[in-house]
Amino acid sequence: MTPIRTLEALHELADGFQRANETVGIVPTMGALHDGHLSLVRQSLDETGETIVTIFVNPSQFAPEEDLQRYPRTLDADLEKLSAMGVKHVFVPESALMYPPNFSTSIVPAKVATKLEGEFRPTHFAGVATVVLKLFNMTRADVAFFGQKDYQQVCVIQAMVEDFNVPIEVRVCPIIREADGLAMSSRNRYLDAEQRKTALVLYRTLNHVRELISSGQNDGFEIVTEMRQLLIDGGVDSIDYAVVADPKTLETANFIDGKVVALIAAHVGKTRLIDNLVIG
Ligand code: PAF
Repeated sequence: MTPIRTLEALHELADGFQRANETVGIVPTMGALHDGHLSLVRQSLDETGETIVTIFVNPSQFAPEEDLQRYPRTLDADLEKLSAMGVKHVFVPESALMYPPNFSTSIVPAKVATKLEGEFRPTHFAGVATVVLKLFNMTRADVAFFGQKDYQQVCVIQAMVEDFNVPIEVRVCPIIREADGLAMSSRNRYLDAEQRKTALVLYRTLNHVRELISSGQNDGFEIVTEMRQLLIDGGVDSIDYAVVADPKTLETANFIDGKVVALIAAHVGKTRLIDNLVIG
């Protein structure tokens, strides 16, 4: 498998798929592939005729103080993993191809983008939505595969697809966890052994929320108070948010009487971790 690096080559591929009437799946990634990404790839291979994996560390979704420079780049290993799974098409654009000098259009993401991550990373989802729409258009894919790990990202992309009538189906695939429950993330490699143990408190806290709700606790404020305490006792260095929210709008659920999502973003050392659990 040779990575696709030009728009001409990508268009040629997409033209061929169109002529053959193939259903095309896209798995957008920033590389540093782990089993979470590979589960999306597996699902696309199973469900579509042709799969295009994209690998692009998108600068526009990182704020200046964030980890763009040190974000792991492991292209050779990524290509090997994909090739071993039978992936034939990997689009690996350079920054200049995605953002040529005269590039100046950007998506203003849906309202759901302004909460939670949006409060701490105000420019993040504009960057995500913009690059994802470009990748959808460039590949002309029919089905897109995203992980539930980035819960709010999925909400933002689903809203964009709906609002802009983008002709693509969005599939949300389950979070893949390590044996001890840590949600897989490319950023987990920043954690040292001690921090890696501390990081488990995110999933413990989410499970505790599930237990609280199933034992009849329906006061969102009480639940969030316990979440924050568990995270602090568990050793996180700071909490960006720990909430129980409506699964669609991400509005805080003050009273729980149906399906909710519990979401956490917290720092362990310098590493920012996110996790979530849909309950009910
Ligand atoms: O989830 C990610 O890895 C990125 O946000 C995405 C969707 C590939 C856009 O750069």
